[in-house]
This record gives sequence, C-alpha cells and structure tokens, in this order.
Amino acid sequence: MKLDGDDIRDKNAIVVGASEKGLARAEELLSSGIGRLVLADGETQRLFEGRERLSGTYGDRVQYLIGRTSSKEHWISLVVEALPSLDGRIDLIFNETGDSTPEEPTALDESYYTGKTAVVTGAASGIGLAIVEELLSFGAEKVVLADFNAENLEKNAQRLSERYPGKVKGVLCNVTVEREMADMIDAAAAFFGGRLDLLVNNAGAAMQGLFTAPSTPLPFDENNPHTPRLQSNEDWKKAFDLNFYGALYGCRSAIPIMQRQGGGQIVNVISGMAFYPMAYQSMYAATKAALNALTLTLRTEYWDDGIRISSATPGTTATGIWKGLKAPGGAQTPQQSARRILAGACHNRRLIFGDDADVMGSRNCFHVDYEDFLDAYLLEVARKRRAGTLAI
Ligand SMILES: NC(=O)c1ccc[n+]([C@@H]2O[C@H](COP(=O)([O-])OP(=O)(O)OC[C@H]3O[C@@H](n4cnc5c(N)ncnc54)[C@H](O)[C@@H]3O)[C@@H](O)[C@H]2O)c1
Repeated sequence: MKLDGDDIRDKNAIVVGASEKGLARAEELLSSGIGRLVLADGETQRLFEGRERLSGTYGDRVQYLIGRTSSKEHWISLVVEALPSLDGRIDLIFNETGDSTPEEPTALDESYYTGKTAVVTGAASGIGLAIVEELLSFGAEKVVLADFNAENLEKNAQRLSERYPGKVKGVLCNVTVEREMADMIDAAAAFFGGRLDLLVNNAGAAMQGLFTAPSTPLPFDENNPHTPRLQSNEDWKKAFDLNFYGALYGCRSAIPIMQRQGGGQIVNVISGMAFYPMAYQSMYAATKAALNALTLTLRTEYWDDGIRISSATPGTTATGIWKGLKAPGGAQTPQQSARRILAGACHNRRLIFGDDADVMGSRNCFHVDYEDFLDAYLLEVARKRRAGTLAI
C-alpha cells in the first residue's frame, strides 16, 4: 500500500511487528506525519531494539506495547491495550509480522519433559497433582510428589506408581518447615540418582479474611466456616510460612544441586492475586506478590548458572482450594492449568499465566492508564464483598 501524506496526517496507527519490515513501516508513517503510533511486538527484546531506533527521532509520538497476535484473543487484547495511547481512536493497523511470525511461544512441547526428573510440592491434589500426571504422561524419568496430606499423598503416589512403575515417589513433607523441605529435596535427589531437573513449588492455600475489625458488622453468617475472620499477625506469619517461605526453602535446597549439575529449572506458583489484589484477600495477595518478587529476582541471579526460574499463575481453577465452595464460573480444570504452566516453563517464560484474565491483570495492574479503571473495579469488588453479595 502506497501512503499519501495527506491521507495519514494526524491519524493514529498501530504497527504490529518490530522486525525490520515493521520498523521501516513505522518510520514511513512517522516521517509522513502520522499523529500517534503504537509499535507492538510479542518479543520484548525486539521491541526494545525498535525503541532504540525510533525514540531519538520521534519521541513520545510512538508508544511501545508488548503483545502477541497468534490468536484472535491476542489481537483483541492488543487493540484494547493500544487504545489509551492513541486517545481512544485507531485509524490504521499494519500487520508487519509477515511469514516469519514465531510459533506461539506458549505451545506445549511435551518432549521437553521427556527423561526429566521433577519434584512437585502440594502434589497430592489439585494443580500439583495434575502437573505430576502431565509430566509422567510426557515421559518424565522420575517424579516426586511432596505434600503434608498423608492420606491423599499415599493414595495418589500408589495409584501413579502402579501406572508408572519405579518412576514415582511420595514424600511426606510440610513445606513450612525448612528441615523437612531440605530432607525432601535430598530424598528426591537420591531417588533420581543425583540429578534434579525441575522443582515446582506449588504448595499453597487461599486465605481470605479481614485485616482489622470492620467499622460496621458485615452481613456474614457466623456459623458458615467460609465467613472471613479477623486475621492476626500470627495468621500473617503462618501465611508467609506457607505461601512464601515454603517456596523459598525449596529454592535454597534445590539451587546448589542445580548449580553443581550445571543447570535446572524452578517454577514458583503464585496467583493472579499478585497483580489484582482484591479486598479481603490482603494476606493471600501479599504472600503471592512477595513470592513473585523473590522468583523474578532469582531468575537473573542464577541465569548464568543455567537455572531457569519462573513465576506461574495457575488461573482460576476448580480445585480443593475453594474449600467446598463452587469455583467461579469459567474456572478451568487442574489439567488445563497444569498444561499452561508446563507450556510456559518449556519456553522459559518469565511470567507464566494460567489463564487469559491473568495475562490482562498483570499487564494493567501497574499501568498509569488503567488506574481509574482498576480503582473502580476493585472498589466494586470490595463493596460487593462487604455487602455479602460476592463470595470471598
Ligand atoms: N485453584 C486456583 O484457582 C488457584 C488460583 C491461583 C493460585 N493458586 C495456587 O495454586 C497452588 C495449588 O493450589 P490448588 O488450587 O491446587 O489447591 P489444592 O488445595 O487442591 O492443593 C494444594 C495442595 O498443597 C498441599 N499443602 C498445603 N499446605 C501444605 C504444606 N504446609 N506442606 C505441604 N503441602 C501443603 C495440600 O495438601 C494440597 O494437596 C497454590 O499455591 C495456590 O495458591 C490456585
């Protein structure tokens, strides 16, 4: 398409693809007088390089957006996210991804796990158990299930051992006790013949409650075990013991083994709540945000040791975490969650998102353009919960 300066002057455009072709297109538009332009690409590095090239000449007429276009949903999110930078008006969209669009980076490569050894904590039920089952079905060499629920652990380790003889071991372990975590990792390494390829720190629990006593009594049923209770400092410490320190202890024990063997991989399971902190879930959100910070710090600290470290949100998933309550509509199965986590891990994604809502949540949560929307949305959640019309 040949562009005429008069056609595009002061118009707004999105250019998708920061390859040479995309950058050339952006430069053509900008030098012809386009108003505002969003340059989008799924690869951060490529986008950074694009910014290096354009920002000196075109300044803030160009905004940069990380976004993929490998599905219809990705396209919709990309356009929605570009809108605030374009004053709500898009005149032109150029898809310059061409034929060289990389394969969707979150495709699950099952063969990546073939022959690997793995430890999964919180593996006696829910997402942890589903991760174990997927790993074994992909041909993992050996897997250790670690959990403190003896009954579920024995039942599932036994069932899986019958299906995969010699490949499965259940280790009773309370992740909040550092010694137990260290012993469990040692026992796993011994079972694996010394090599530990993958650790998934998945054990955790949901923890809704009240930060202080409410100014007016909440219309909650005192006899209902799900009614949120006042959370003491002791509760907060216990929450961090489980959702934060459990994973920290796992990393401490596994990293030296992985350093000695020249590499390995750790996935710490966080939550979308790390990005979308909702009222009456302060304790849970704080533990998961802290775990995310720890994880992403360690990611680069151990990168050069060949250890891949990622955070993973499982997405809303129907598991025992809902404690008998119905999981929210649209909740996925533990297997769906496990497959998305393993898909992200095989591509060494920094942040792995278990569902699309978490993708959006993480993108918007600290973005100044979304401040008003986020306050309005989260305030509505808080008020509905206070009125007892929305479950916590
Ligand atoms: N299900 C969801 O919608 C959802 C959403 C976001 C994050 N998560 C996270 O996913 C992870 C897995 O949760 P799930 O949904 O499968 O729940 P789940 O309750 O089915 O599984 C959690 C497992 O962790 C084990 N566990 C709990 N405390 C432990 C301890 N101290 N030591 C050892 N094991 C312990 C439990 O026995 C259980 O088997 C958790 O970290 C949770 O916070 C879940």
